[in-house]
Amino acid sequence: MLRTVEATRYVTPLREGGSLPGLVEADDLGTYVVKFRGAGQGLKALVAEVIAGELGRRLGIAIPELVVVHLDPQIGRHEPDPEVQDVLHASAGTNLGMDFLPRALGYEGVSWKPAPETAARILWFDGLVTNVDRSWRNPNLLVWHRELYCIDHGATLLFQHTWPTPEQSANRPYDYVNHALTAFTDGLAAADADLAPQVTDELLHDVVAHVPDEWIDEATTKQAYVDHLAARAKSPRSWVKTP
Ligand SMILES: Nc1ncnc2c1ncn2[C@@H]1O[C@H](COP(=O)(O)OP(=O)(O)OP(=O)(O)O)[C@@H](O)[C@H]1O
Ligand SMILES: [Mg+2]
Repeated sequence: MLRTVEATRYVTPLREGGSLPGLVEADDLGTYVVKFRGAGQGLKALVAEVIAGELGRRLGIAIPELVVVHLDPQIGRHEPDPEVQDVLHASAGTNLGMDFLPRALGYEGVSWKPAPETAARILWFDGLVTNVDRSWRNPNLLVWHRELYCIDHGATLLFQHTWPTPEQSANRPYDYVNHALTAFTDGLAAADADLAPQVTDELLHDVVAHVPDEWIDEATTKQAYVDHLAARAKSPRSWVKTP
């Protein structure tokens, strides 16, 4: 399970985030970027954050720690923006927090470049989880202490919005061309050889177990997430496009 912390102070909204995430301090003295359960994207975005985030971390990709943030909306009572008030009032209870990386810079591919292997592993991972939010317009990559960190996995696991068959999920293509790391597709075959065998059913069960039960809607099971990701990880992985 994820660690749980109690929110103690709402610091500020992060305006660049489409889901109006907020910077929040918690009782463990940590500072977190919080995705609120009551924001427009809904609980499925939080489920995707946890499953993709924990899966990526298990594959060796740098992703800031995720926690469950317990929220009493009262902590934001002095926040003047009515939009923020609405989100907080709709978000009593459990929310998703990501460890805030102070002074991290957005990756722009010019002033600093990652190791090609690291970048190719991120490309492969994004293909596995069908991440549509890693384009140049919206890279969701941070550079911190000379390492590339992946954030914002709310728009992954596209299958959870329509629940096709696992076979259809397995065959869904992935768009590497518009990916912020598209320059590194040469390394995809090596990343595939290394990472695909690591995505076992056991690993997927471990990862999916991190999702709080109350975030999964009644019509769905955690097993369904395992089945769809396992189908995608299995040979022949038609979504891996090697140049
Ligand atoms: N862990 C973090 N450490 C430092 N800054 C962060 C972190 N997480 C997010 N941010 C900053 O907050 C912004 C919004 O976060 P995020 O992309 O996760 O939100 P979002 O609402 O899903 O955004 P969007 O859908 O617009 O991409 C990021 O672009 C980044 O600048
Ligand atoms: Mg983002």
